[in-house]
Amino acid sequence: MKSTPEAPTVAAVSVDDMRERIRRKSHLKGRQPEDAAMAEVAQLLGPRPATGLRRDLLIEYLHRLNDHFGVLHDRHLVALARQMNLPMAEVYEVASFYHHFDIVRGDDAVAPRLVLRVCDSLSCSLAGARELLAALPERLRAMNLGGGLGDVQVQAVPCVGRCEQAPVAVVHQCPVLHATVDAVLDAVNLKPNRALALHPKALVAINFDVATLAGQCVPVQPDGVSPAHTDLATYRAHGGYQTAAALVNGEMDAEAVLAAMENSGLRGLGGAGFPAGRKWRIVREQAALAEPQAAPSDTGAFGGTAVMAVNIDEGEPGTFKDRTYLERDPHRFLEGVLIAA
Ligand code: FES
Repeated sequence: MKSTPEAPTVAAVSVDDMRERIRRKSHLKGRQPEDAAMAEVAQLLGPRPATGLRRDLLIEYLHRLNDHFGVLHDRHLVALARQMNLPMAEVYEVASFYHHFDIVRGDDAVAPRLVLRVCDSLSCSLAGARELLAALPERLRAMNLGGGLGDVQVQAVPCVGRCEQAPVAVVHQCPVLHATVDAVLDAVNLKPNRALALHPKALVAINFDVATLAGQCVPVQPDGVSPAHTDLATYRAHGGYQTAAALVNGEMDAEAVLAAMENSGLRGLGGAGFPAGRKWRIVREQAALAEPQAAPSDTGAFGGTAVMAVNIDEGEPGTFKDRTYLERDPHRFLEGVLIAA
């Protein structure tokens, strides 16, 4: 008679052992959020909605942390990632992309009293940014600011979007245009700490009349840092948001908008000069827009909800066309987005 092979021995593992094993493994996957940091982040972000924190608000949450603490502490990024249910790498990637966020490591790190950024991208380098960066630390030291140079941090940063006003330094949030060493030191004297060096606000509302300005250059404002802009009330007073409302209310149809776009001759400025009206029509003809709930089909049509993304990044050297327009006439842009959507 054939003998039955002995069953292999299996070590018995209790539920507690398993839990401990999982806990150890998850520790290995990265830094775990600390209770105190979780509480600080939760307090700043306010009550958590039942559906969870919105992922598309990540930058807003980072701003809230940065404004409150002066820097982004790595412990808060870990806590934020946990609270948003996002991978830490994703939060870190966004936080480290923007020059106006400072990530500091370690619990003892403190925010500098003031951060002084000098753009060293192409336009500013050509206009003297390197010389500024070389001269500023010595001159700041000579100013004897009280807290020492460590208290005012000088950083070289990529393009801050003001290439036509190069070289540009930014004292915390306040830009110094056509910056010289003396102008930067004056700004540091005037705005010696973060609370004072916030971005200046435009005081007056103007009606930015595109038709009047067509073919001319944008008027230079006395305060070039934060030019006067068309605010919501002024925009509405001049008929703003009426086209978007007419579309929503069914008083105007999409075909009329497409025809207006096509007849306008408007073309994209991305290089190909593609007619904007034609692009809108092609997108509208996609099956996913006609039937938002449609499943992916054999015909290659996309299923699911269509999402419109607006690109206003100006990474190319010397580009600032969108900023010039956006900061002066923001509601026209927002209404355009609503109409396109
Ligand atoms: S290169 Fe300096 S602001 Fe753009």
